[in-house]
Amino acid sequence: MHRPCGLHGWIRWWRFVDETSSEVARHRADPLASAVVQLDDVRKSFNRGTPIETEVLHGIDLVLPRGQFCAVMGPSGSGKSTLLNIVGLLDRPTSGRLCICGEDTTVLDDQALTRLRGLSIGFVFQYHHLISAFTAIENVMMPMLGHAHFPDPQMRERAAALLADVELAPWADTPVTQLSGGQQQRVALARALVMNPALLLADEPTGNLDSRSADAVFALLRRFNREQHMSVLFVTHNALLADRCDRTIRVVDGVIGA
Ligand SMILES: Nc1ncnc2c1ncn2[C@@H]1O[C@H](COP(=O)(O)OP(=O)(O)OP(=O)(O)O)[C@@H](O)[C@H]1O
Ligand SMILES: [Mg+2]
Repeated sequence: MHRPCGLHGWIRWWRFVDETSSEVARHRADPLASAVVQLDDVRKSFNRGTPIETEVLHGIDLVLPRGQFCAVMGPSGSGKSTLLNIVGLLDRPTSGRLCICGEDTTVLDDQALTRLRGLSIGFVFQYHHLISAFTAIENVMMPMLGHAHFPDPQMRERAAALLADVELAPWADTPVTQLSGGQQQRVALARALVMNPALLLADEPTGNLDSRSADAVFALLRRFNREQHMSVLFVTHNALLADRCDRTIRVVDGVIGA
């Protein structure tokens, strides 16, 4: 099949490489597991085997229960993003064990990790990483494209409902380049939620916003966390927002402080 072109090209391409619904079920981690994230003695080194090898995470133990909204604070360079990338299955630990919804990810191959990530984890970053050629609703639909159990009308309906939830219904068909920073971040949030993930990882999602937009994005995160019982790891340098979370962990020099 040729390289995809435009949203419908992507849809066809994803369907071409798609899995069956039973495979989807196989790769979705246990939604009833009580700990959504569990790390046991997780370490991460960069540039392994070279003279500049550095260990950045030095044995992290962490349990994130279902439905908990947990702030992650700590100085710049302490390892917060490294930790989130590992929990989000974007990077592998050098050693230790990471379970997502009870599933030991250390034994999974790359394809299984990709499936698990797509079905169980949503991401929001400091910079929204939206696809600038697409409209708001097309961006929100993107994560659903690989899954045959979403027919086209259902995908659009779900994306439209989420855009309404983040108060962007009138902008659904607007190219994302024409939206403000706060609006773009709300599109990114809708996209992160579209697969109804058990876990949302938010790496300074409000760091780039003015205080009013930051408040709006935080309030939405909190609302989805409560309504959908979704666990959240929320990296922030804002102590006032951290105070509104269920719990705060501090990463200092690659370990979780007291
Ligand atoms: N791919 C990489 N290769 C080498 N070193 C890296 C890599 N990614 C991160 N590091 C190093 O790991 C350390 C932790 O980085 P990380 O991005 O996790 O910090 P952070 O706590 O998220 O900081 P900030 O608050 O500034 O976002 C830093 O010293 C960084 O230089
Ligand atoms: Mg960071």
